[in-house]
Amino acid sequence: MIRIGIAGCGFMGRTCYAILAERPGVRIVALLDSEPARRLGDWSQQIGNLPSRWPENAGGKGIRAMASIDEMVSADDIDLVVITLPTYLHAPAAVAALEHGKHVLCEKPMALTADDCLRVCAAAAESPGLYMTGQCIRFWPQYVEIKRRVESGEYGPIRSVVLRRIASPPGYSQDNWLMDHRLSGGALIDLHVHDVDFAHVLMGPPRAITASGTTGPSGGVDHVCALWDYGDGLIVSLEGGWSYHAGFPFEMFVNVRCERATLQWRMSDGPAVKMFADAAEPQELAVKDSNGWAEEIAYFLECVRRGRQPELCMPESSALSIRLAELERESIQCGRRVNCDA
Ligand SMILES: NC(=O)c1ccc[n+]([C@@H]2O[C@H](COP(=O)([O-])OP(=O)(O)OC[C@H]3O[C@@H](n4cnc5c(N)ncnc54)[C@H](O)[C@@H]3O)[C@@H](O)[C@H]2O)c1
Repeated sequence: MIRIGIAGCGFMGRTCYAILAERPGVRIVALLDSEPARRLGDWSQQIGNLPSRWPENAGGKGIRAMASIDEMVSADDIDLVVITLPTYLHAPAAVAALEHGKHVLCEKPMALTADDCLRVCAAAAESPGLYMTGQCIRFWPQYVEIKRRVESGEYGPIRSVVLRRIASPPGYSQDNWLMDHRLSGGALIDLHVHDVDFAHVLMGPPRAITASGTTGPSGGVDHVCALWDYGDGLIVSLEGGWSYHAGFPFEMFVNVRCERATLQWRMSDGPAVKMFADAAEPQELAVKDSNGWAEEIAYFLECVRRGRQPELCMPESSALSIRLAELERESIQCGRRVNCDA
């Protein structure tokens, strides 16, 4: 039995709760939140588009309510701390949990800065606990299927990649912390980092990055367009941001053009991945009926059960995503191409 504490009972805390509550071999022992009602399991206040199918009082089922991360990380009956707190709290919470020997599944982004990520990596290296950042896109069935097919080599080498993740400003976060870039990193770190992560997992880090971007409602970079140059004409193009107008639907899009076929998934088109080859119509490729959050949680629980490092998502690899996003910000600020080996 893996005994779990969930730190943060907002959008992602509730999403993780719903997934964990249905998994065998785990028990949710404690909930932590600075809001008393939330840590007591009263989740009647609607958040964003989350389904309101929560237990009337999650805390009433013998789950302890906690008000501080220190209390959670020092509890003897907790094996795994799931960190779903605002991003500026990720690094201190993860380091504290690892120093107490806990396993840690921490929401993306790993931390606000690459330096903080390195602190988490160092704590993970020293701890008997396992650490993984919840890079859900690495586990999202459509992205997994595209990567699997590309890596099989059946379509030949990659010629170009387009990744897009765009939205209107999210208004649901507690005290609107997402709209303060000092707490969230802005859309560059909070939203776009998903595609930064997938791009380097698929292709490795680029030689150089050229990016343009604009400041938005968070006060940080809330819209970015980046070109990652791999040499020999191989380019990855990324657009991310939440600067679109109210009502603009959230969209994720991935397009990988290989030598003999193009693989594409657009969230608004439905679950199937499309494969364009020489036929007039694309072929629809069915994927597992799941989502990246459920898949990432299942994977990490299995790593904890087996005492194995999460090789699909090691801490250093998540830290690289923040470093690459910072290089994009550097390119935006200096108005020039930046080398990635610098
Ligand atoms: N993987 C994904 O697709 C995805 C989606 C959304 C959010 N996230 C990430 O999940 C994390 C949480 O975001 P969210 O959308 O759930 O935000 P949220 O505002 O809905 O939830 C955060 C919760 O933390 C609580 N909290 C704030 N400060 C606290 C403190 N000092 N101590 C204890 N509790 C505190 C708040 O009361 C709130 O309940 C962020 O890092 C965000 O980037 C990931």
